[in-house]
Amino acid sequence: MKTTIYQLKDMQRKTTAEHLKQVIDQGGLIVFPTETVYGIGANAFDPAAAEKIYRVKGRPKDNPLIVHIDHLHQLKRLTKTISDEAKRLIQAFWPGPLTLVFQKTNEVPKTITGNLDTVAVRFPANAIAQHVIGVVKTPLCAPSANISGKPSSTLFEHVKKDLEGKVDIIIDGGKSTIGLESTVLDLTTSPPTILRPGSVTKAMIEAVLEKPIDDASEVYQIAPRSPGMKYTHYKPQGDIVLLEGPTQKIIDVMNQAALEEGDRCAFICAHEVSEKLIGQNVFDLGSINDPETIASNLFIALRTMDDLNITTIYMHTFSKTHIGSAIMNRLLKAAGYKVVKVA
Ligand code: TXA
Ligand code: MG
Repeated sequence: MKTTIYQLKDMQRKTTAEHLKQVIDQGGLIVFPTETVYGIGANAFDPAAAEKIYRVKGRPKDNPLIVHIDHLHQLKRLTKTISDEAKRLIQAFWPGPLTLVFQKTNEVPKTITGNLDTVAVRFPANAIAQHVIGVVKTPLCAPSANISGKPSSTLFEHVKKDLEGKVDIIIDGGKSTIGLESTVLDLTTSPPTILRPGSVTKAMIEAVLEKPIDDASEVYQIAPRSPGMKYTHYKPQGDIVLLEGPTQKIIDVMNQAALEEGDRCAFICAHEVSEKLIGQNVFDLGSINDPETIASNLFIALRTMDDLNITTIYMHTFSKTHIGSAIMNRLLKAAGYKVVKVA
């Protein structure tokens, strides 16, 4: 399949808008940027188009997709009731990186909900994402634009590498500003439950709802609350060794590994650690005091490891405050929940 690539400057053209609409009307796929990660979108009401997404990504059929909207009136087609709690969260966080899980209407095809009676909805803040949903005139179901199990794509170069020739259109929106996927909050439970942490944190949600909420994302459950919880995620080809302990000890262990393993190993670290490393393959995520920057660079770093054919990737844990909880959630998954304590 020939993939058309559009740049930012093409987005203003009428012919681009017509092409976007034509592709979605005909059941095709568009890769578009959002503020979290890139998404691979199809008409949310077209089960055959949604099935193409599952095929292209190699995604298990029971892992549901998020429906992306650009206007609140679209919610009526997707969910039967919008509670007062939902209204308060929408008012506080939409458009933005918070996905809300509702009871679905009959119109929402079960192909996109992994056979569940619920539907996850998100109103992205990214202007290109909003423009695309606006011109195609339908909500788009869209998972992250990566091959299933791999780190999500936060750069145009990464989606191009994975998906060129497999989708109709890819839009180059540059680097995703947040770099980690949205917070997923289940509103069908009482109290609401975080299924995936993101940059909208538990504390931020609790402040709006004025009550405590649950967090199911920390526990690896036998019967996961969200289908996405049970699959391997964010896994580069190499193994990740996740170190926890005093900073100097982490630096010592990493430098010893560099001496013993040479260029087969790599180090993905905060600036305060990386500046003290002697290894060849050092990826500086940014200062420990700037967790937003660390979050925005994490998937880029993990993907770079595959390009370098690294066999062992040394990393360290991060504080779980604020967006740190989302960073650690992705890191623990990528490392298969193994933490090596150094002291
Ligand atoms: O930031 C994001 O959310 C990005 C961008 C593209 O919007 N999308 C994204 O989609 O991360 P995806 O498919 O990679 O992750 C969606 C997560 C999965 O863990 C899935 O299991 C969960 O949301 N999910 C979707 N629908 C659900 C539902 N009805 N109930 C529970 N979990 C659901
Ligand atoms: Mg994903």
